[in-house]
Amino acid sequence: MSDQIACPLCAQNVAFTLIPHLRTEHRIEPKVFRVRFPEQPMCTAGFSEFLRDHQVRRHNGILHHRLDVAGCPMTARYGVDHPLIPEPDPTFVWTDRCRDVAEAIEHNERVFLYGPSGTGKSSLVRQIAAMVKRPVRRVSLNGETSVADFIGHWTVNGNKETVFVKGILPQAMQEGFILQMDEVDAMQPEVGFILQQILEPHGHLLLTDTGEDISPHADFRLVATANTLGFGSDSGLYASGTHVLNFSWLDRWDVVVHIDYLPIDDEAQLLLARHPSLKKDLLKAMVKAASDLRKAHANEELTTVLTTRRLLAMCARLERGSDFRRALAVCVLNKVPPEDRKVIGETFDHHVGPMFNA
Ligand SMILES: Nc1ncnc2c1ncn2[C@@H]1O[C@H](COP(=O)(O)OP(=O)(O)OP(=O)(O)O)[C@@H](O)[C@H]1O
Ligand SMILES: [Mg+2]
Repeated sequence: MSDQIACPLCAQNVAFTLIPHLRTEHRIEPKVFRVRFPEQPMCTAGFSEFLRDHQVRRHNGILHHRLDVAGCPMTARYGVDHPLIPEPDPTFVWTDRCRDVAEAIEHNERVFLYGPSGTGKSSLVRQIAAMVKRPVRRVSLNGETSVADFIGHWTVNGNKETVFVKGILPQAMQEGFILQMDEVDAMQPEVGFILQQILEPHGHLLLTDTGEDISPHADFRLVATANTLGFGSDSGLYASGTHVLNFSWLDRWDVVVHIDYLPIDDEAQLLLARHPSLKKDLLKAMVKAASDLRKAHANEELTTVLTTRRLLAMCARLERGSDFRRALAVCVLNKVPPEDRKVIGETFDHHVGPMFNA
């Protein structure tokens, strides 16, 4: 260890800072030590510079530091442990768009992510949270999620008392979690009206059942994801279950970010990182086929779209030794309407076929 500092009490060299050493070996608090040795630095010069550069500071007992996330300087927590903090995914591909979302989360802007299925919207929110170590509560606002799930409900407890149990929203607001609401374009309109209150900056939530006024914790964040922007589905792909969202509701979101499929090289890099035993050329050919099929979908030549999720599912099968055609059939073709099968089969034949026929 090169960056060391000598303790004036016992002459032992310790790494970076004297503080833990003073507490554990000499049972002296830094404040007392400073009075006795006013000239003695507490940290090595290098470590002091690191603390300054990364703006390390203690807030509510937790160390915070600056961290670059997708090009956005964010405040990350150090060494915190919570079951709702997502695991970092080292294969996650950060694109330019991720920066906008990171900035929104850092600066407490309400952010709405929309884009086709499987483009990594939900994963992006979780990966940002994993980097900065913030807990995420995730809720799918499909038509099944009721106001009672969201706000809370009355129940009888073990002492036979009727009590109100707070739902997902007030809990996340009070505990300071990121609330990630997926599929907001399919939510019940009543849930949308409740959200309207808290879309305002520092908006409070009034629990009408109990009269309690819930004010948001400084760390509370709100993120929505959806396949459509709430103007309905142009392609018809997401028409089932999605609703047209109220304009004044949409207008209250501070930031809207469109997330699309990864560029060809990035998507190939993702497949390779997740399935390193597969040949790079094969993965690139699969991604090119997917890219052509997405263009065909945009030109209305195909009713469905080939998602990153489908490619990853195929790769998992191929990695286990499956035959390519069989993997394509079970992971893709069997899911799509008959009229799409021919186009998808031909596109894969065009890009991937020559690799097997050679
Ligand atoms: N940029 C990326 N880096 C790493 N993995 C990605 C990326 N984009 C998508 N994926 C992978 O693709 C799959 C689908 O991602 P995810 O569920 O986040 O998509 P989504 O946009 O939320 O989809 P939906 O609209 O259907 O909810 C996951 O396995 C995810 O890890
Ligand atoms: Mg999602």
